[in-house]
Amino acid sequence: MIVYLVGAGPGDPGLITARGLELIRTCDVLVFDRLVARELVDEAPVGAMRIGRETLSQEEINRLLIELARAGRIVVRLKGGDPFLFGRGGEEVEALSAAGIRSEVVPGVSCLSAVPAAAGIPITHRGVSAQVTIAAGSGAGGALGLDLDALACAPGTLVLFMSLGRLDEIVDGLIARGKDPLTPAAVIASGTRAEQRTVVAALHKLPAAAVAASVVAPALVVIGDVVELADELDAAPSRSSSGNTSVMSRKPTVATMER
Ligand SMILES: C[S@@+](CC[C@H](N)C(=O)[O-])C[C@H]1O[C@@H](n2cnc3c(N)ncnc32)[C@H](O)[C@@H]1O
Repeated sequence: MIVYLVGAGPGDPGLITARGLELIRTCDVLVFDRLVARELVDEAPVGAMRIGRETLSQEEINRLLIELARAGRIVVRLKGGDPFLFGRGGEEVEALSAAGIRSEVVPGVSCLSAVPAAAGIPITHRGVSAQVTIAAGSGAGGALGLDLDALACAPGTLVLFMSLGRLDEIVDGLIARGKDPLTPAAVIASGTRAEQRTVVAALHKLPAAAVAASVVAPALVVIGDVVELADELDAAPSRSSSGNTSVMSRKPTVATMER
């Protein structure tokens, strides 16, 4: 009995691993998360059972995986990005293991670096940032999951997952704790997908800029000097500037961020 926990990558279906795609194509049950590309779900064999986890709690998912494995099914659990980065993959492995079921984890391309990259932003860059701090804005029970004191003084790049809904509170909190309000910052929504949108602004203007651009989840927040490199790198998508912020789609052009 084995369950495969497969990382689906950040959104673009072409960014799954070869091993991940092979497993999807040979499974007989595919249990997939909301952010997984539909194209990857369609890769499962015609007769395979497809179960979206829309309405299932984590506990129900754990039970389902155990039941399916015990019934002798070839189960692929397909999760957005990488299963072990804010993916609750560890919890699923623990639950399976407690039930005596083995699991194989197939890593995925995480949004962590892939989504900024798709907006032309390298999260590290020699001479600019040699340190990355990763955090999730939503914690257990709806609490703000961030240690703002630690984040405000962390050097290098901050990458914040699940933070769009509380961006105001997060940005105010960082600035109140000493973060430079002029730090370059970006919100990248639906990264690596055709509908990708990027908003670039000085940190103190980012929440208003994101609202003005009507960006919606899923989105990643990147804070740090690396954001300015988007102007220099070929991978930078096209932007339209208005005032002192800029909004980008995926096509390559350049614009300047004013402060
Ligand atoms: C539960 S976490 C999953 C992270 C995933 N395991 C990974 O490794 O990338 C979901 C969060 O990832 C980010 N995210 C997922 N897909 C994204 C995308 N295509 N563009 C921007 N952010 C994305 C958002 O912050 C979203 O709220």
